[in-house]
Amino acid sequence: MTERIVILGGGIFGPATGKSELLGVLLEDGRISAVAKDIVVDGAREIDAKGLIVAPGFVDLHTHLREPGLEYKEDIASGTRAAARGGFTTVCAMPNTEPAMDNASIVEHVRREADARAAVRVLPIGAVSKGRKGTDLAEMGDLAAAGCVAFSDDGAPVYDATLMRRALEYANGLGLAIIDHCEDPSLAHDAVMHEGWVSTRLGLRGAPSAAEGAAVARDIALAEATGAHVHIAHVSTRGAIEAIRAGKARGVRVTAEVTPHHLTLTDELVAFGAHGGWDLMYDTNAKVNPPLRSADDVEACVAGLADGTIDCIATDHAPHAVIEKLCEFDDAAFGISGLETAFGLCMRLVHEQKISLETLIERLTIGPVRALGLDRFAPGIGTLDVGAPADFVLLDPDAEWVVDAASFASKGKNTPIDGVALKGAVVATYVGGVRVDRAEVLVG
Ligand code: DOR
Repeated sequence: MTERIVILGGGIFGPATGKSELLGVLLEDGRISAVAKDIVVDGAREIDAKGLIVAPGFVDLHTHLREPGLEYKEDIASGTRAAARGGFTTVCAMPNTEPAMDNASIVEHVRREADARAAVRVLPIGAVSKGRKGTDLAEMGDLAAAGCVAFSDDGAPVYDATLMRRALEYANGLGLAIIDHCEDPSLAHDAVMHEGWVSTRLGLRGAPSAAEGAAVARDIALAEATGAHVHIAHVSTRGAIEAIRAGKARGVRVTAEVTPHHLTLTDELVAFGAHGGWDLMYDTNAKVNPPLRSADDVEACVAGLADGTIDCIATDHAPHAVIEKLCEFDDAAFGISGLETAFGLCMRLVHEQKISLETLIERLTIGPVRALGLDRFAPGIGTLDVGAPADFVLLDPDAEWVVDAASFASKGKNTPIDGVALKGAVVATYVGGVRVDRAEVLVG
């Protein structure tokens, strides 16, 4: 029997106009069948969205699900539950697993496990090089045939420029992008944070902004030379954004993402923590790569997101075990568990009137889908178009809640904003018309 669900009373974002309007949405058998003013309920189950925003489910191009091999940090079940709580209905799984996702059998394993245990859609990203070692290309054709939606050695850059050139050429032939973690290791060395006054004050090794800018400039030059598509992961510096803006203006096939933390937090968090104490904190939960940058870089990231230089927001959700953060700053792992705080953190920009709610939702939904052409793999995601899967979120832009890392669905409790009050919450997340979150735990 056809299951019919009608969502009534919400401000609907997404269909056609990209604006928020009061409409009804009819879902039939897990797909959107109508979006209109006068929906006839006709015995359908009703979802009351009064006072809420109804938006397409968020799409994350950059999630570390850690499976296979690193399940003590996260696994497909826990990572996708975290995604559901954060409003994400599709996540792209990064290949820095153990072993790396560099061959078809590992991709098949991840897809099979995701089919069995994931709360949201999982699209795998294959490694660029064997073992992500940066020396020999992975079997990119096999990875594409197994269902990879892009290639990346994320966690490490593709340092060798000739290997990157070849990877771009192969990826182009396969119609896919290379997602590069842009960092010139000969400049960044073994830095543990951003190079600036904070790193000097703390006596920690800093990575200069130019380490990212130089790598981005190289990638844009190679994309231009090959005609291939490069996607810049987690952009964090003004210089990189200016290079991307100029590349796009020249018609280079370059797209980019920025994380919620690089849009809202600075390197001062490493020193003082989120609660602004005067004691030096050396907060390992603020250790992430690329590092939290200066206020000027944050401003450039926001401007780049607003003007479309940056195509989308991606979480770089990087869960780690407690022991990997409860140690000296030098020894701590890089990464922030970001799925469950992404929307609330980004809503700061809306409340501070730096970007509109429409722009924010666009950059979390259709923005990432367009950036990598994900519509080919999961038609209709990131939209509320008729015929699209009923992947949607109910959002309360004004709900206030306090981040409680201990209650995260993710195994990774590593957030530098634990205990911080946020305004803007995901109330419910649906995939194919089925509710997949337990938002009442998250929303205080
Ligand atoms: O902070 C980070 N953590 N940056 C990366 O590029 C990788 C990630 C991880 O996998 O932990």
